[in-house]
Amino acid sequence: MKSFVYHVPTKVYFGEGQLCHLGEELKQCGKKVLLSYGGGSIKKSGLYDLLLEEMKKANLEVFELAGIEPNPRIESVREGARLCKQHDIDVVLAVGGGSTIDAAKFIAAGACTDDDPWDFFVAGAPIDKALPLITVLTLSATGSEMDSCGVISNMETNDKLARYSDHVFPKVSFLDPTLTYTVNEYQTACGSADILSHIFEVYFNMNKDLYMLDTVMEGLMRTVIKYAPIALREPENYEARANLMWASSWAINGFINGGKQQAWSCHPMEHVLSAYYDITHGLGLAILTPRWMKYCLDETRVSKFYQFGVNVFGIDASLEPLEVAERAIEELSTFFFRTLGLKSRLSEVGIDDTHFEQMSQKACKGGVLAGFKPLGKEDIKKIFERCL
Ligand code: NZQ
Ligand code: ZN
Repeated sequence: MKSFVYHVPTKVYFGEGQLCHLGEELKQCGKKVLLSYGGGSIKKSGLYDLLLEEMKKANLEVFELAGIEPNPRIESVREGARLCKQHDIDVVLAVGGGSTIDAAKFIAAGACTDDDPWDFFVAGAPIDKALPLITVLTLSATGSEMDSCGVISNMETNDKLARYSDHVFPKVSFLDPTLTYTVNEYQTACGSADILSHIFEVYFNMNKDLYMLDTVMEGLMRTVIKYAPIALREPENYEARANLMWASSWAINGFINGGKQQAWSCHPMEHVLSAYYDITHGLGLAILTPRWMKYCLDETRVSKFYQFGVNVFGIDASLEPLEVAERAIEELSTFFFRTLGLKSRLSEVGIDDTHFEQMSQKACKGGVLAGFKPLGKEDIKKIFERCL
C-alpha cells in the first residue's frame, strides 16, 4: 500500500430539489454564466426552463453554448472558449452527461489561455488555471461530475484523448437523481456498463491494495448489478437512480484507487473505437470487457477473478478457482448482453477489422498498456478480433 494524497474539491448537492441552491453558488463565482448543454434533452425535460428561472432569480447574465455532441468534439471546446473570452464569462455551467461536462472542463481552461485547446491533448500545453465550473448531472455514467479528467475527440485525426488537471475539477456539482428519469434504456445500460468498467480498471490490477478498498469496489459493483435492471424496468424509481448516480461518482473520483498505480486497459481500447466509429463509450466497454477478461485469465490472475466471482456474483466458493473465474465472466456477459440488452459484437454496430492495425497501435501508443495483463499492439488486435 503506497502513500497517497486524496483531494477532491468538488462540493456536491445530492438529491431532489437541490437546484434551489444553484443561483447562490453561481453568484459566488461572478455575474456572467456560460450555460453549456447537449443536443436538447434538457429542453425536452423542462430542466432548461427551470435553470433559467433560477438564474433569473439570482440576477445572472446568461450566455449559451448548445449542441455539445456525445463524444464531444474539439470544435465545440474551441467555440466555448471563444464565447467565454468574447463575453468575459465568470463561470461555466455544464448541464448534461459526461460529454457536456468534459467539454466544459476544457472550455473553462481554454478561456484562460491563448493556446489552442487541442494542444492540451497533443502538445502538453499547460493548464495553469480555468474558470470555475459548476455542473448539473443528467446521466449517471462517467463520474466527470467529480473528477479532474475529460476526454475530447478530434474526428479529423481519429483521436479521442484524455487530459487531467486539478484546475478542471468541478467546483460544485448538483446530483439530482430525478433528472435522470428521462434517460432512455440504451443510455442507462451504457452508463451502467461504464460505471462497472471504471471499477474493473482499478479492481483488476496486479498492484497490492487495501482489503477495505476491494470490499468497497465489490459493493459498488453489486450496487450497479442490482439497480441498473430496476432503472431499466422503472425509469422513475428514485432508489435505483440515486444508487446509480452516487455509484458513478465514487467509481472514478479517486477514492477506490488508494495509491494504486493506475494502468487502465479497456478504456484506451474503447477510446480508439469511439475515435474511429463514434460509438457510445459504455457500449464499446461492454463489448470489450468480457473478451479482455478471458484474454487476461491465466494462472497468475485467476485468484482475482475467483474473488470477483464469489464476492460479486455469489458463485460457490468451493468450486475450482478456474471454474469460478470462467463462470464469473459468463455472468458478466449475461448481465451486459441479456439483462441490459446491449449488443454483444462489434460487427453488430457496423465495425469490421479495416482499421484494427492502426487502432491497436494507437490504443497502446506504440508501446504497451501496462494494466492487469500488459498488452502490446498484437494483444490488442487479438482482443478486437475476438469482439467481431
Ligand atoms: O445531448 P443531449 O440531448 O443532452 O442527450 C444526451 C446524449 O444524447 C443524452 N442524455 C443525457 N442526459 C439525459 C439524456 N437524455 C435524456 N434525459 C437525460 N437526463 O444521453 C446521450 C449521451 O450523453 P453523454 O454525455 O455523451 O453520455 P455520457 O455521460 O456517457 O458521457 C460519455 C462521454 O464521457 C467520456 C466518454 O468517453 C464519452 O466521451 N468519459 C469521460 C470520463 C471522465 N470525464 O472522467 C471518463 C469516462 O471513462 C469516459 O471516457
Ligand atoms: Zn468510462
